Amino acid sequence: MTKCTANRLTRRSALQFGGALALSGLAPSMAAIAGSRIPFGAAVLLEPFRNDPQLKRMLLDHVDVIVPMNVLKWDGIRHSKKFFDFSGADELVDFAVQNGKRLHGHTLLWYNANPQWLDAITSPKRLERVLVEHIEEVVGRYAGRIGSWDVVNEVVAHDPLNQGKWRTSVWYNVLGPKHVDIAFSTAARTDPTARLYINDYDLEDDSLRTKARQEAILKIVHRLQRKNIPVHGVGLQAHLYAERKIGRENLARFIDQLHRLGLDVAVTEMDIIDWKLPADKAIRDAAVAAKTREFLSALTASTTPRAISTWGLNDRYSWIGDVFPRDDQARARPLPFDRDWNAKPMFDAIREFTA
Ligand code: G3I
Repeated sequence: MTKCTANRLTRRSALQFGGALALSGLAPSMAAIAGSRIPFGAAVLLEPFRNDPQLKRMLLDHVDVIVPMNVLKWDGIRHSKKFFDFSGADELVDFAVQNGKRLHGHTLLWYNANPQWLDAITSPKRLERVLVEHIEEVVGRYAGRIGSWDVVNEVVAHDPLNQGKWRTSVWYNVLGPKHVDIAFSTAARTDPTARLYINDYDLEDDSLRTKARQEAILKIVHRLQRKNIPVHGVGLQAHLYAERKIGRENLARFIDQLHRLGLDVAVTEMDIIDWKLPADKAIRDAAVAAKTREFLSALTASTTPRAISTWGLNDRYSWIGDVFPRDDQARARPLPFDRDWNAKPMFDAIREFTA
C-alpha cells in the first residue's frame, strides 16, 4: 500500500489556487495553471531500488522521469579498464522502459566518481580517444531509450571569481576547454535525437559567486554554439540551502539569456539542505516546502522547465545528511518523502507545479 497523503490538484482547483497565489506573488507558471504538466523526475539509487519494494511502487505511482543516480557514472560502468559494465544501468533503464517512464542520463563527464585508471591518464590523445569511445558506447547503447543527458556535469569551478572559469579535473588538466566540445559533439553524433544538457549547481541565488557561475555557463554555451556543436539546455541541480534566498530577478535574467540562445532549462537534482533549520520536524518540513515553492515559483515565472527532478525521493537514501550534517545530529529531511514513505509538505509543493 502506498502511504501518500498528498492531494492531487484538479485543473479547477489549480486555477483557483493559481489565482490566490498570483496575489501573493507565488504564482505557478501559466503552463502549470493551464494544465500542461511539467514532468516530475527522481534520481534512483540502485541498492534501494533492488531492496526496498516500496521505492518501485512510488516510482510507478508518482514519477515521470527516472534518473539513474550513480550507475551511469564512469565508476559505475568503467570500474574495470577492460570492459564496460552495464549491469546496474540496464536494470534501471529496463524498469523505466517497461513501465513507460522517461529517462534522463547522468552523466557522461564529471571531475568526480572516476575510476583510478582514468584519472591517471596524462596523454591528451589517449584521453580523447577514451572519452569518445565511452560516449559512443554508452549513448549508443541507450539511444532511443535515454532521451536526454547531462553531457557534462559541474565543469564550472566552484568559485570562478577566485579559481578561474573551469573546474580542475583530469579532463580540463589534460585536454583543456575542448573536453566539453568533444563530449557534446560525440554525444550529438551518436544520438542526434537526444537532448543534451550542461548540468551544474549553485545557479539559483544572487550572490556574486553565483553570478560568476552563471556567466561561466553562458560562455561555455557560446563557445559550443560558435563551433556549431549542439547543446540544448542547462540543468539547474538546485541543491538549495534553506537559509539562502532564491535570487528571483537574477534567476529570471539568467533564464532569459539562456532562452535567447535557444536553450531550455531543467531542474535536475533538487533537494533542500536543512542543516541550519530548527530541530522540530513540522517546522523543518514546512520550511523545506516553503523553499521548494519559493524556487519553483521564481523559476516557472520565467520558464516552463523540461522536468522537475529531485535527487532521490525518500530522506533515507539522501546524500544530504552525510555532507551537511546538523549540529544536533538530527537526521536530514531534504526530500519529498520521509524515511517511511510518508509524503511530506515538500511533495505537495512539487505537485503544485507538476500535477
Ligand atoms: O553502494 C555502496 C555501498 O554498497 C557501500 O557500503 C558504501 C560504503 O561507502 O558505498 C556505497 O556507494 C556509495 C554511493 O554513493 C551510494 O550511496 C559511494 O561510495 C559514493 O561515492 C556514492 O556517492 C554519490 C556521489 O554522487 C558520487 O558518485 C552519491 O550517492 C550521489 O548522491 C552524488 O550525486 C552527486 C551528483 O552526481 C552530482 N551533483 C551532486 C550530487 C551530490 O554529491
